Amino acid sequence: MNFAERDGHIWFDGAMVGWRDATVHVLSHGLHYASSVFEGIRVYGGAPFALEEHYRRLHRSAAVLRIDVPFGVAELCAATRELIAASGVADGYVRPISWRGSGSIEVPGFDAGSHTAVALWAWPSVFGEDARTAGIRIGTSRWRRPDPDTAPTEAKSASNYAIGTLARHEVAGQGFDDALLLDRQGRVAEATGANIFLVADGALHTPIADSFLSGITRATVIGIAGRCGIEVVERRILPSEIAGADEVFLTGTAYEVQPVRAVDDVELAPGPVTRRLQEEYRALVHGGGR
Ligand SMILES: Cc1ncc(COP(=O)(O)O)c(C=O)c1O
Repeated sequence: MNFAERDGHIWFDGAMVGWRDATVHVLSHGLHYASSVFEGIRVYGGAPFALEEHYRRLHRSAAVLRIDVPFGVAELCAATRELIAASGVADGYVRPISWRGSGSIEVPGFDAGSHTAVALWAWPSVFGEDARTAGIRIGTSRWRRPDPDTAPTEAKSASNYAIGTLARHEVAGQGFDDALLLDRQGRVAEATGANIFLVADGALHTPIADSFLSGITRATVIGIAGRCGIEVVERRILPSEIAGADEVFLTGTAYEVQPVRAVDDVELAPGPVTRRLQEEYRALVHGGGR
């Protein structure tokens, strides 16, 4: 169903408005120059996971993009809880977004003003239930993650997502579920909406997060691995190392812990380390998390 044609409510600049009335003007700065920052938060059994962490990151992203968000973390958390209670959605996805408004249509947007909205909908899984166990196939894109001095890579900013859209279009034509993006130096970076881990000799290996978003799920999984006695190595990873990996998986709020069954023509089997982390992660998020 079209996202503009749903029923329910969206929190918009401090008030609950009807879903279909939560619209923006075509001359919004955010629409023309991708001057928006956003979040993705999962709700499990009516409880949002890592709610405050996500809103703290929204504020950090907004500071990088110099977008004014006049709503504090506590206020946004309360609005989100109110939205969840009013929606009746037990297992869903929350999408907060802040963007520059229509006060100016020039590139700097000094007087553009800003808006903030929070929407929520039911979204059980990104790739379908079967993919949780079978895994997905990812293909390397020709599009690269930019250097941190070329784009605001540490922010969850819309300006970084054109690359992901282009990469998904490219690899979808080759039959892949998602794209693997390399960094400017040709090292493994991440997928289009998730971070990546390799399992080798029982340890986790994940790229240093300096050209892409350092995910909250990535940090959560690193924490779980520590508690399970699994070593985690953050380092530069070359694409050629994937063929020697025992397992590969992706992490993200929407993806959760998502096994990978192939990278390009390298076939992989979702294995015991991925399965264990997947189970531990699900137990954590369903247990009220944090
Ligand atoms: C490009 C990108 N990388 C990584 C992630 C994973 O971040 P998180 O675990 O905080 O959801 C996401 C999802 O938010 C993303 O869009």
